[in-house]
Amino acid sequence: MTLAIIGGTVVTAGGTLDADVFVAGEKIVAVIAREINTPDFGRADETIDATGKYVIPGGIDAHTHMEMPFGGTSSVDTFETGTKAAAWGGTTTIIDFAVQAKGTGLLATLDKWHEKADGNCAIDYGFHMIVSDVNEATLKEMDACIGAGVTSFKMFMAYPGVFYATDGEILLAMQQAQRSGATIMMHAENGIAIDQLVAQALGAGRTDPVYHGLTRPPELEGEATGRAITLAKVAGCPLYIVHLSAAQALEAVAEARDTGQNVFAETCPQYLYLSLEDLARPDFEGAKFVCSPPLRTKDHSATLWRGLRTNDLSVVSTDHCPFCFKEQKELGRGDFAKIPNGIPGVEHRIDLLHQGVVAGEITLARWVEVCATTPARMFGLYPRKGAIVAGADADIVIYDPTARQTLSVATHHMNVDYSAYEGMEITGKVATTISRGRVVVADGEFKGARGEGTFLPRTLNQYLV
Ligand code: URP
Ligand code: ZN
Ligand code: ZN
Repeated sequence: MTLAIIGGTVVTAGGTLDADVFVAGEKIVAVIAREINTPDFGRADETIDATGKYVIPGGIDAHTHMEMPFGGTSSVDTFETGTKAAAWGGTTTIIDFAVQAKGTGLLATLDKWHEKADGNCAIDYGFHMIVSDVNEATLKEMDACIGAGVTSFKMFMAYPGVFYATDGEILLAMQQAQRSGATIMMHAENGIAIDQLVAQALGAGRTDPVYHGLTRPPELEGEATGRAITLAKVAGCPLYIVHLSAAQALEAVAEARDTGQNVFAETCPQYLYLSLEDLARPDFEGAKFVCSPPLRTKDHSATLWRGLRTNDLSVVSTDHCPFCFKEQKELGRGDFAKIPNGIPGVEHRIDLLHQGVVAGEITLARWVEVCATTPARMFGLYPRKGAIVAGADADIVIYDPTARQTLSVATHHMNVDYSAYEGMEITGKVATTISRGRVVVADGEFKGARGEGTFLPRTLNQYLV
């Protein structure tokens, strides 16, 4: 099967090129600048006219939670529904989190997550491992995970009694990561202090969703981020701060990066576009916006956009963790601490970041870099993923930069009963999504299938020298 994508503007992390892209089977086989040559694509089995559109590498969402048991319930997108929604939004790879339960080994956890995902995904997928039970066996199994293609491990300074790890446990895991070259991903919030603030708020009768934000102040994200950086420096391991939301945390990351330490960070669209004002919406609607770290005041968003420009924030992921408003978010009526934490977004990352291009916050090349190329390099998938070059997987998105759309629960494909971006009007829309040479979304229709996505074993972080 051969496919020619002609007439478009290829956008990569390196810039733009008016070029035609030729695909054979699952791979890109040629990218030919039109001003150099006018190749004869007459022999391709299928030709897509991309005139007036961008041709970009399929997005890589390096932070999703499908079917995740959390907060006494489970996130509602399955690997099937979540990967289909991702494809609608131009994402062709997700890296989801396998979650170690206390008392369970890492390899047994990985087996369980393979059972959930294998044969169900519509696009390619990999796994990170959440480490919640640090002991000798866990530390040994971290190396076995790397052998199984899982090269990054998330730990939590938040959620005492659930995923929380002490500084000592974090140091042990970091030392193990230093020996193998694995990356430690950190949820950096001071959970011990936050729990005190939560208890005080509830004790004073402050139970509304906005108190979720007010009891998790940005200073406690900044403090934890600085502490994680110090621990990683002592251990000598690479550190990746997940879902960074606060200016204080960004400052700590920037300072460490300036010294040359291997510290990286991602942010998420919700921290760029939503704010504490959303958490304060009346009639419990704020529950739709409960995630951790919480949404911040708007001044933090401006700082995060700057961080994306300066590369102190290298990646934008969604932290897609969808819970329905009805019956799930509602678990926290009368007690904000019982609202399951998470926001849906896997379908909208590429569009929302393109909106940043339209608004002049980032360049076109940077859009592609933070959504596809850098996550591929950060998590050991490059150049198979994240690039439009001969030899790469033909994960390609044809993006219409002039189309207008309104984000809404009525039109999205995520399996969740609300949109965090309801009514938001944006410019730009995915026209076609191609996953390993197969058209999975085109002409407003889903053309892929559950099970066509394959597991991606990953190598180590490719930014390390
Ligand atoms: O609120 C969030 N972020 N939910 C997902 C779990 C996590 O901490 O990433
Ligand atoms: Zn987290
Ligand atoms: Zn997460």
